[in-house]
Amino acid sequence: MIREGGLVAFPTETVYGLGANALDPEAIERIFAAKGRPAYNPLIAHVSDVTTARELSARWSPAADLLAAAFWPGPLTLVVPKQDDVPARLTAGLPTVAIRVPSHPVARALIREAAVPIAAPSANRFTELSPTLATHVVKGLADRVDLVLDGGPTSLGIESTVIDVSSGEAVLLRPGTIPREALEEAVGGRLSLPAPISGSAPRPGPGMVERHYSPRAQLIILSGDLSTLVVRLTDEAAEGRKVGVLLSSDDHGFENGGDFEDSALATGANILRLPSDPDGYARELYAALHALDEAHCDTILARQVPEGSAWAGVRDRLRRASYEG
Ligand code: TXA
Ligand code: MG
Repeated sequence: MIREGGLVAFPTETVYGLGANALDPEAIERIFAAKGRPAYNPLIAHVSDVTTARELSARWSPAADLLAAAFWPGPLTLVVPKQDDVPARLTAGLPTVAIRVPSHPVARALIREAAVPIAAPSANRFTELSPTLATHVVKGLADRVDLVLDGGPTSLGIESTVIDVSSGEAVLLRPGTIPREALEEAVGGRLSLPAPISGSAPRPGPGMVERHYSPRAQLIILSGDLSTLVVRLTDEAAEGRKVGVLLSSDDHGFENGGDFEDSALATGANILRLPSDPDGYARELYAALHALDEAHCDTILARQVPEGSAWAGVRDRLRRASYEG
C-alpha cells in the first residue's frame, strides 16, 4: 500500500503515525488532506538507519552524528539541510528535512518492507490529540486511512524530541521524553531554545502553532494544593459542566480541607490517576485525555506537573492542550 501511494497508520514507540511514501508528492498530499493539516507544516521522514538518513541530507553535521549515535533508533527527530530530490511537499518548501529512525519493531518492519522513507505525522486530525492506541486512530481518521496496523499501546506516549541541527548549533524545537541533560551530554554542549513565539514574528518551527494536541474539552491546569482543584471542580459542576480530573497517583493524600474523593465524586466528576513519574505520566496522558473526551467532559482539570527537565515534554503537551485561542 505504501508503494502504491496509500496511507498506512502504524505504531511507533512514541505515538501512532500516518504513513505514506516520503518520495511521492501525491501520497504526501493525501496525508495533508486526511489530517486537515495546513500546508506550511512539514512532515518527518522515517527511515531505517543513519545511512539512509544521510542520503536525504545535504549536510550531516557533527552534532547530527553525535545525536544519531546516541539516540537512534529512538524517539529523536533531527532537522537537517535537505537533499535536492527530497520533495518540497514533504518539507513544506523549507530547505531542511526532519528525519527519525524509530525503534518500534512494527515501524521498522514496515519501513524495511516498503523500502522507501515513510513520511508520517501523528495519526490524528490537525490540532486534535495524538493517538497512542490503534482505536484512537480509527476514531479520529476512520476511512481517511487505508490500513491501520495495530501494535497495541505505544510505550512512550508523547511525540519525539525535535532538534534542529541544520545550522552550527543544536536547537531544541520540541521537547519529548529524552531529558535535556542527556541530549547536551551527547552533543557535548548546550542546546539552544528557539525564541518565544510572539505576535507576527516568524515561527521557529513551522509546526509550532500554539494550540495543538488538544482534547475537545477545555483543559485547565491548576497549580497549588488539591483544595484549589476541589473549589474549581465544585464551581464548574455547579454551572452544569461535566468535569474530568487528571491526578497523579501521589495525589491520594488530602490533608486539609476535607475528603477530596467524597467532594469530587459528589459532583459526578470523572477522576483519572496517572503514574507520578514522568515516563509513566507521558505514557498514559493522551489515552486519559481521549477517555475524558469519550466520557463527554466539558472541562478537564489537571494538576500542574513538577518543574525539572524530566517533565519538560509532559509540561509542553499539557500547556499546548490547554491553550485557548
Ligand atoms: O514522535 C513523533 O515525532 C511522531 C511519530 C509518528 O514519529 N510524529 C510526529 O509528527 O509527531 P508531527 O508531524 O505530528 O510533528 C512533527 C513536528 C512538527 O512540529 C513539524 O513542524 C516539525 O516536526 N518539523 C518537521 N519538519 C521540520 C523542519 N524541516 N523544520 C522544523 N520543524 C520541522
Ligand atoms: Mg502531530
